[in-house]
Amino acid sequence: MGIDSLEADLAGRGFAVLEKHLDDAALAQTRCLHSESIATADPAHRSSGAGGSTRVHLVEQHLDALYLDQVLLSLAVRVLQFPFGLSAFLSRTVHPGAGAQALHVDQARDGDAMSMLGFIYMLDDFRADNGATRFVPGSHRAPSSECVVATAPAGSLIIYDGATLHGFRANTGGADRRSIQGAFVARAERAFPSPPRRAGRTDLARYLLSNPVQAENRVEMSYLAQAIEASWDHRTAYRGVSSAANPALGQCYPTARVVQWFFPELEIASGEVWTGTSTEDHFWNVRSDGKVIDLSWKQFPTGSSVRKFRVLDRETPGNSPPTVARCELLLQRVLVNLAVS
Ligand SMILES: [Fe+2]
Repeated sequence: MGIDSLEADLAGRGFAVLEKHLDDAALAQTRCLHSESIATADPAHRSSGAGGSTRVHLVEQHLDALYLDQVLLSLAVRVLQFPFGLSAFLSRTVHPGAGAQALHVDQARDGDAMSMLGFIYMLDDFRADNGATRFVPGSHRAPSSECVVATAPAGSLIIYDGATLHGFRANTGGADRRSIQGAFVARAERAFPSPPRRAGRTDLARYLLSNPVQAENRVEMSYLAQAIEASWDHRTAYRGVSSAANPALGQCYPTARVVQWFFPELEIASGEVWTGTSTEDHFWNVRSDGKVIDLSWKQFPTGSSVRKFRVLDRETPGNSPPTVARCELLLQRVLVNLAVS
């Protein structure tokens, strides 16, 4: 299923099922890592859930690939119009004899917009008799009495709008029904049980788990420039400007901030550019030896020149909340772009 049809399913029904999203080898490996995580989990991260189920918060990095999945992240960047982090990331086992979980929403919508994107990886076949999750299609938008059981083979992935009514059925089968699930929510609302800091995680994984976070891994400036350009749009631009002919327009400040995130030794310069017809405020990066890195200079016509500038004090940027949001959104998109492209 392509991203477009996934997005359409999410918008219309509130959930989508990607059958056998994990191939047999990935499923076997995930099951193995899952068993290991469950066996060695800190008791503080284990709890009894609804019906007769066990939840274990997954804080080790063995299973990071599941929430760093390219399809999942590409979709999340599209449907969540804000910087997001991982909130819950946990294993749920619905044991034989477990009762049904009440229908519920995980997080109501914020007006018309989705506020939480949830996902469930099936480690066992989801069947009507072993505790498969049921959904009320369209309930994220309007009340409905229809109910659909999301049955699919092990390795399948459910992606859902957190405002869609759902809950697992009773497990009347003879074996555990295992899944790994999680959710992306606005970064300020994260409720992840603060994972210990560990080396080896990618910048994107650390970003999704922590708030705030600094880059640890270097990236080639040329790759970074491509990822930044691919991530510009009216939501990252100053005052929402957008020009198909001049995509760099209004992107200078968040661009300079994102470059500084990856290269903390760089400063941000704030100055004025004379375009030949007007004077424009502009931001770019400078190195201590004076070298200029300006990834949004192309917004100005040939022959433009810097009239004056000063280096910003990085300790007191004094940004307005909308500016902070634009910088954060660009950073998130760039991290995902670097990870999936
Ligand atoms: Fe739920």
